[in-house]
Parts: sequence; C-alpha cells; structure tokens
Amino acid sequence: MANLSVNIHFALILLWLAIWLLECKNIGRSLDDDLLCPYPYGHSHGPSHSIRHVRDCQLVVHGNVTHQTWPASNHIGVPVAESNVFISEIPKTSRFVTGHMTVVHDPLRTVSVLEPGGPGGCGMRKREEVEETARAGKCLYAQNGGFFNTKNGECLGNVVSDGVRVKNSEGVQNAQFGIRKDGTLVFGYLSEEDVLDEANPFVQLISGVVWLLRDGEVYINQSIQAECDETQETGTFTRFVEAVSARTAVGHDEKGKLILFQINGQTDVRGMNLWEMANFLKGLGVKNAINLDGGGSSTYVVNGSLASLPSDHCTSDPRWRCPRRVSTILCVHQPVCHPEDCSGHGTCINGICQCQEGWNGTACDAFVCNPPVCGIHGICATDGCVCDAGWRGNQCNQVCALGFYGDGCNHSCTCANRSLCDPVTGSCTCPSGYLGDSCEQECPLGFYGLGCRHECQCQDRCTCDPVTGSCHALFQGERNSTIHRAGHCLATQMFTTWTEEELQKSKPYLTEKSWFLLTCLLSSLLLASVTRPLITACRQFRSHQAELQDYSYIRLSSKSGANGSGVQQGGSQPGRGTNEPDHSDSE
Ligand SMILES: *[C@@H]1O[C@H](CO)[C@@H](O)[C@H](O)[C@H]1NC(C)=O
Ligand SMILES: *[C@@H]1O[C@H](CO)[C@@H](O)[C@H](O)[C@H]1NC(C)=O
Ligand SMILES: *[C@@H]1O[C@H](CO)[C@@H](O)[C@H](O)[C@H]1NC(C)=O
Ligand SMILES: *[C@@H]1O[C@H](CO)[C@@H](O)[C@H](O)[C@H]1NC(C)=O
Ligand SMILES: *[C@@H]1O[C@H](CO)[C@@H](O)[C@H](O)[C@H]1NC(C)=O
Ligand SMILES: *[C@@H]1O[C@H](CO)[C@@H](O)[C@H](O)[C@H]1NC(C)=O
Ligand SMILES: *[C@@H]1O[C@H](CO)[C@@H](O)[C@H](O)[C@H]1NC(C)=O
Ligand SMILES: *[C@@H]1O[C@H](CO)[C@@H](O)[C@H](O)[C@H]1NC(C)=O
Repeated sequence: MANLSVNIHFALILLWLAIWLLECKNIGRSLDDDLLCPYPYGHSHGPSHSIRHVRDCQLVVHGNVTHQTWPASNHIGVPVAESNVFISEIPKTSRFVTGHMTVVHDPLRTVSVLEPGGPGGCGMRKREEVEETARAGKCLYAQNGGFFNTKNGECLGNVVSDGVRVKNSEGVQNAQFGIRKDGTLVFGYLSEEDVLDEANPFVQLISGVVWLLRDGEVYINQSIQAECDETQETGTFTRFVEAVSARTAVGHDEKGKLILFQINGQTDVRGMNLWEMANFLKGLGVKNAINLDGGGSSTYVVNGSLASLPSDHCTSDPRWRCPRRVSTILCVHQPVCHPEDCSGHGTCINGICQCQEGWNGTACDAFVCNPPVCGIHGICATDGCVCDAGWRGNQCNQVCALGFYGDGCNHSCTCANRSLCDPVTGSCTCPSGYLGDSCEQECPLGFYGLGCRHECQCQDRCTCDPVTGSCHALFQGERNSTIHRAGHCLATQMFTTWTEEELQKSKPYLTEKSWFLLTCLLSSLLLASVTRPLITACRQFRSHQAELQDYSYIRLSSKSGANGSGVQQGGSQPGRGTNEPDHSDSE
C-alpha cells in the first residue's frame, strides 16, 4: 500500500493532467449517470428479482457455505483509520485512476452504515449527498454505500444501521457486507435466516452487487451466475461488470482491518471496471470484497468535506462529475459502543464497554456464568443468578432469613417451640422434650429427651421432666399424697406403654383430666384390693400367725391381677424378683 500512497498534491496534479487528457472528448455528458444498472429491469441500481439458490451456482470447493466470515481487528488507538489518496496506472492500459483507500483498525466500533440524511432516511426514500449524511453522522471518513432505486429513492437489499434493522431484502441474493455484534466481518450471500439471526445479530449490513474477491480470489464470474442468471442472456450484467466507471468497494485484509475503496470516474470515460478493481484489491492483499454503489459519482468525504473531487470545478466545468444525491453511506467515526448504553450494565469508554461486575461481552449483555459469581449455591441465567433452595442474594451467598426456607426463601417455617428450621426443606429439628413435624408436641408422659426417646427412670414409673428427665417434677393437680402418687404412677405404667410406633404416629396422650379420672378410679380399686385382704388377714392373724408372710403376698398378687411388681414400694428396678417375698410390703 505504501507504494500506492503518494503525496496528495502530487496526486492531484497527476489526476488533473490525466483527466484533462481523458475528458477532452466527453464534454457535456449527463451529470446523473444511470448507466450502471446491473439488471435488465428498469433503471434501479440493484436487485429486483426474487430469491435464487446460490448453492446451485457456486463451486464445490465452497461446499454449501455462501458467505465468508472473518474476525474484525479490534486494535484500539489513534488514529481510528488511515486514509490515503492514490493515483495508479491500470496495467496494459494507458488509463490512470485516482481514488482513496481507508484502512480501519477497529471496524466494530468505528464503522457504521448510515441511512441517507440520518435515521429513518430509507423509510422516507430520501436521497442525500454523502457530505450531508456524513456531517450529520460526524463521520471522519465516508463514501457511497448501498444500491438504491434512482427513480424513487428506495434503499435496495438489506440495510442494518447501528443495530437497527432498516430493511430486509427477504433473502434476495446479492453480495452483502455486514458486521455482527461480536465483531465478525461477513461478506457474501446471506439467507433471510442469516440476516435475522438473533444470537449474534448484524449491527451493520449493506447490500452491493458483485462479490469481487472471495477468500483472496476473484469471484466475479461466480457472482454473475449467482446474482442474476437472466442478465447473462441480455448481456446487461456483463456490461455492468466491464464498464469503466466511478466505483466504491469494501473489503478486509488478513488482519481483519476493513478497507474502504473509492475510485473517481465517469461511466465509459475513466475509472475502473470490476475486473480491474478486483485485481487491484487482490494485489493489495484484500481477502474478501464486494462492490458497492458508486456508478454515478463515487464520493469520498473527510471530516464532513468533499475530498474526492475539487468541488470548484463541479459547477463551472461539466467535465467534472458533481457529487450526486445518493442513499446509504459507509461512515468511519470515533469509537462508539453497541449499544451506546452498554445494555445498561456498563460504561462506554472510547468505544469499549467497561462492564459492571457480573457482566461480560462487548455489549455487557452476557451474564458471567462462572463461579464465584453465583457461587456453589446458584446457577447463572441470562438475567442473574438463580439460587438453590435455602439460598438468596444476588450471588446466592446468603442463607434464608430466620423463619423462611425453600426456593427464593419464599416459604415460612412452621417450627414451634424454638425448634430449628431447615432452610432448604423447612423440616424442623426439635429440641429436647418436643415431638412432631413442627415440634408442637411435648414428650408423652414417661418419656423425655431428644426425640422423646428416653424412658423416665423414676420411682413407680412416675413421669419425669420432658427435657431433662428429672424425677422431681410435679404435675398439675397432683397432691402430695403417697397413695395418690402411687396410683398416678401406676396408671402411667399401665396406660401409656410407649412404643416406637406410637412415637412416630404421635398419637395424643392422656390429658390431665383423664389422668385425674383414671387416678381416682385406680386409687379406689387399689384401696379396695388392699383393704379387703388386710381385713381378712387381720381376722386370720390371730389363728394363723405363722403363715402371714406368704399368705399376704399371694393374696395381693392374685387380687391385683399382676405379678405384684406394681405395688412393691421397692421400686421398678429390673431384676428385683417378683417371686421373692417382699418384707417391705407392710401396708
Ligand atoms: C452444509 O454442509 C454440511 C457438511 O457438508 C452439512 O453438515 C450441513 O447440514 C449443510 N447445511 C445445509 C444448510 O445444507
Ligand atoms: C470468467 O468467465 C469468462 C467467460 O466465461 C472467461 O473467459 C474467464 O476466463 C473467466 N474468468 C475467470 C477468472 O474465471
Ligand atoms: C478533522 O478535523 C479535526 C478537527 O477539526 C482535525 O483535528 C483532524 O485532523 C481532521 N482530520 C482529518 C483527517 O482531516
Ligand atoms: C468474559 O468473556 C471473555 C470472552 O468471552 C472471557 O475470556 C472471559 O473469561 C469472560 N470473563 C468472565 C469473568 O467470565
Ligand atoms: C418468591 O416470591 C416473589 C414474590 O412473591 C416472587 O416474585 C418470586 O418469583 C418467588 N420466587 C420463587 C423462587 O418462588
Ligand atoms: C409448643 O408449641 C405448641 C404449638 O405451637 C404450643 O401450643 C405450646 O404451648 C408450646 N409449648 C411450650 C412449652 O412453649
Ligand atoms: C410430700 O410429703 C413428704 C412427707 O410427708 C414431705 O417430706 C415432702 O416434702 C412433701 N412434698 C411436697 C412437695 O410437699
Ligand atoms: C408374671 O410372672 C410370670 C412368671 O414370672 C410371667 O411369665 C408373666 O409374664 C408375668 N406377667 C406379667 C403381667 O408381668
């Protein structure tokens, strides 16, 4: 490229000379040059045919892939682009061409497709000079962009401008140039699906005619087949390709730098045909390139001012082509972010989104899905962490608040009596002395401790403190009467034989009222059973004194219906033989 770029003054002098010589015979030509219709229909620049299947026309070497992609260079720095004016002699001809070549270092952030006159221009079918659109768009460098209908101003093909889908060609096959959100450069033929792709959408897209270079090779013959079969019969497409004219193109080099290319010219008078332009670009190391609109009057604008032609001559000298009003343009500008607000999750600094913590991607729209953000207690979703049950917070690093559990900590615990609530399942861990799903029950009489698994070890099988197992607890309604207490504890033993199943079933146990009634009943029975044998024994005592011990014992056993242990004052220690005469039973 260095050998092409020469001092601008030298270039302009040569340009003047060359064009003076070439233009002599062409004074008076139309200023609005519509000769470059690539299609036989009407006067529009661009496609007006229906969808064609490119697959059938392309070389097998390309498989079924109809476009090429290339990661864009993202070199950040000053300057945004390098622009060179050049003059060159076309090999094997005596023609000189002049033009501009612009190398863009960070296409994603500094290149835009702009609608004529600003946003909405395509919808209004506006036509505007490149200069005007470039000024409004604060372009450092700008040139003609997509094809348009010269009669009604309609933008042709696909147009995506700064992420806004302006026009959908519905799959019409013409050479396209686009930049996807992640910075991928795309050249070639796109299906409607490709254009509408939401995963990695186009932020810029424009339609040309003729894919000049594909993967470093001239692709014009294939383009003629793919883009319009019918033109070959009429010869119009060939004419479009072979006419010497003003031209613009866009391509990329091996490093992913975008190349804007503009050639001054006039149809059939000066400039380049597409073969010449394709070979020229190939010689510069361009990998993929498409031909854009430029037929009538290609225009190059620097800092809002026309640079392609000395505008002084435009009005006074008809040999010069005046800039005409065109449609979309390609604009190189200071870096901007896509979208400008960095999706609300970052700050745009020099065209680069500085994302807030937890967000990633060029647009700060990718939620970071690695630990440590959602940690081990959550998973990433597109809009944040989704926490496991029992965990909460932006990063799922807080357990549920006291009294709550489950997904989103949205459920209230039912754990009673200061029992612990599992933040995941909501199940209750009962403290000593309590039972039940919500620990709402105290231990049944005669049992105590964690899970009420321990039997009270009190005299007479009396009940104990449900928490500690202490035997000194008094029960409501109990009087300090030995006889009463004995009956109470006997009833405990007889009626609340506790089993593990009953524990699990958590059956209600006897209420205090039942206790009182039972106690009264049993006390009466006990008294009766003790009193009668005593009376009998007293009567017999005088005559059968020697048999007293055994007799009284046997009678008591048989009358009480038990083996006697229940009335032994000696306590309930296992192993204390019930068959042994008990001398302490003196009542
Ligand atoms: C393109 O070709 C590849 C491999 O040859 C195949 O897997 C893929 O399905 C094809 N795609 C279409 C759209 O035909
Ligand atoms: C393009 O096609 C023409 C006519 O079919 C042929 O003469 C020419 O060699 C082809 N060019 C290339 C580069 O294939
Ligand atoms: C564009 O204008 C700015 C300020 O007016 C100037 O600093 C800069 O050098 C100009 N750029 C070109 C390429 O002329
Ligand atoms: C952000 O994305 C880049 C590129 O995809 C990746 O290399 C980097 O690790 C990501 N950062 C985090 C914190 O995930
Ligand atoms: C928790 O409750 C809030 C408000 O009622 C609701 O928006 C949210 O979706 C719930 N979360 C879960 C995980 O149920
Ligand atoms: C235990 O919890 C139950 C149910 O909430 C309640 O009725 C009872 O009074 C509590 N017991 C104590 C000793 O707080
Ligand atoms: C119960 O009576 C016994 C003996 O009559 C006495 O030693 C004990 O202190 C009394 N207990 C209570 C709680 O009154
Ligand atoms: C009474 O004692 C006998 C013999 O020791 C024993 O087999 C029986 O199970 C006991 N009955 C009760 C109700 O304890």
